[in-house]
Amino acid sequence: MATDKANNAERDPRRRVHLERQWFAQALERCLAGRDLPALRACVAELRDALRRAGETPDPPAGPTVAFRLEDLLDELDQVLQARTLARARYYLRRLRRATEEVRTGPINEINLLRWKEYDDILTDSLWVIPRRDTSGAHQAWYWGNFVPQIPRQMMLRYTRRGDWVLDPFAGSGTTLIECRRLGRNGIGVELNPQVAARARETVAQEPNPQGVVTALVEGDSTTLDFAHLLERHGRSSVHLLLLHPPYHDIIRFGEDPRDLSNAPTVEAFLERLGQVVERTSPVLETGRYLAVVIGDKYGHGEWIPLGFYAMEEVRRRGYRLKSIVVKNFEDTRSKRRRQSLWRYRALAGGFYLFKHEYILIFEKV
Ligand SMILES: C[S@@+](CC[C@H](N)C(=O)[O-])C[C@H]1O[C@@H](n2cnc3c(N)ncnc32)[C@H](O)[C@@H]1O
Repeated sequence: MATDKANNAERDPRRRVHLERQWFAQALERCLAGRDLPALRACVAELRDALRRAGETPDPPAGPTVAFRLEDLLDELDQVLQARTLARARYYLRRLRRATEEVRTGPINEINLLRWKEYDDILTDSLWVIPRRDTSGAHQAWYWGNFVPQIPRQMMLRYTRRGDWVLDPFAGSGTTLIECRRLGRNGIGVELNPQVAARARETVAQEPNPQGVVTALVEGDSTTLDFAHLLERHGRSSVHLLLLHPPYHDIIRFGEDPRDLSNAPTVEAFLERLGQVVERTSPVLETGRYLAVVIGDKYGHGEWIPLGFYAMEEVRRRGYRLKSIVVKNFEDTRSKRRRQSLWRYRALAGGFYLFKHEYILIFEKV
């Protein structure tokens, strides 16, 4: 058994090891008590070696455990070994001891900052290249104009905690609400098109809801809706994240309804309506919390129309602090690739570049 464990650990440094908390704390204490740097290093090197083999902790652990990704733990110990002074080496060791004993999260998410290296599923760069849409579970691609589930997922992981409330005033096929069920966040979506809303409700219901959160999808016009009243129905007065994925003006028409933002007669009218949605939803967002707008640019009459930048200004004018502009690739589907070759010709002839990106504009309510 111990040999199997050791072999696995050596093969897969990304695996998690479960160490008996007391055993590990005592091991760190022993090293901290080292008289001088060579003594401390010898102790840490021995511990590192034992962990690399991962057979030295009682098996199964007798008491409470602490889990680490082996790779990160070995990195931490390497840092101690490379320290040039005793004081520095002890500082790193104490930091590691704290990471086993404490959890330090900020107020708006559940990321344990003492173990920040373990969150490599959470993106922190402003360029997102997401090669494939997540089509697992209830996520289907039936709605033309939906966003990839990875977008609401990333937003919720960074800007919400379990049990928080998320509001999506352009809910479409319900992608945000499906992610809410997966991540244990409550979600309310508003969608203008009744057929789309009905189908989205069915789709969302197919996703398991292990944490029993609310995922409500209501039909309505987000430019005029009374959001405080809508939340009251769920016993709430505020939400913790606003996620806006409006039409990119008229690039895709989402229905015949003249109130649909994709039917706004001009870019100016579109932006005015988007501004109305921001004004309507803002009062229910808690201060210090985040609003994200997912939007792309458009092309018309020989001109690139920077809808993303215009939209950014609409939000900034309404009391928000811009925190990030994320640029995300468009996925390359087969049908898109076919259309692409014609557009490539047009681009070469017309002196412009083809859209391969959209924006995720991230704001904090101040
Ligand atoms: C880009 S799609 C959102 C797609 C969604 N994120 C998804 O993954 O399915 C924009 C949606 O906004 C809806 N919409 C347009 N104008 C609206 C309005 N005034 N109020 C509410 N929804 C509106 C459209 O019907 C469309 O479904």
